Amino acid sequence: MAVWPIRKYGDPILRKKAIKIEVIDSALQQVAADMIETMQAAKGIGLAANQIGLPHALCVVDIGLVTEGAAPQAFVNPVIVQESGKATPYEEGCLSIPEINEDVMRKERVLVRYQDLAGAPHEQEYEGMLARVLQHEIDHLNGVFFVDRLSPLKRKLLSKKLKAIAEEAAAEAQERNKNASGVRA
Ligand code: NI
Repeated sequence: MAVWPIRKYGDPILRKKAIKIEVIDSALQQVAADMIETMQAAKGIGLAANQIGLPHALCVVDIGLVTEGAAPQAFVNPVIVQESGKATPYEEGCLSIPEINEDVMRKERVLVRYQDLAGAPHEQEYEGMLARVLQHEIDHLNGVFFVDRLSPLKRKLLSKKLKAIAEEAAAEAQERNKNASGVRA
């Protein structure tokens, strides 16, 4: 198991739509285990694969921090089939957008189609915190951030902070490239 660095707002992979996973094998199970470890080390309750730089349609969720008895779970190729209930506001944050927390409107319930790490298909309805986290993570897999769902005014007020995070992301990308070429040399 390993903790991976988390990509930040501004990194191009976070704007890409995830690629459907065709083969569910031990390598994918390893990545999911690493993602759970990375999420827990960062004290997050959800993480999408592009947040650690991988293009696949995989996310992990662990609401154990906010709901007693909840276990971490991986979702392969998750899609929202149906949303229902009232849209309610709740304060969200994101491991890729440090130090910004804002109320986001989301539906109370979602019907999610996904595969588990054994490849079995599921269609399951979620509500409450799990429904919210899944909407947030599935947004990531579509290249969408929670800040995209805020009002234009709110986004404008955050634009300086977001720009600073994007500059950090660019500096980290440069550092990664330097290290990569070092390995080749
Ligand atoms: Ni996030």
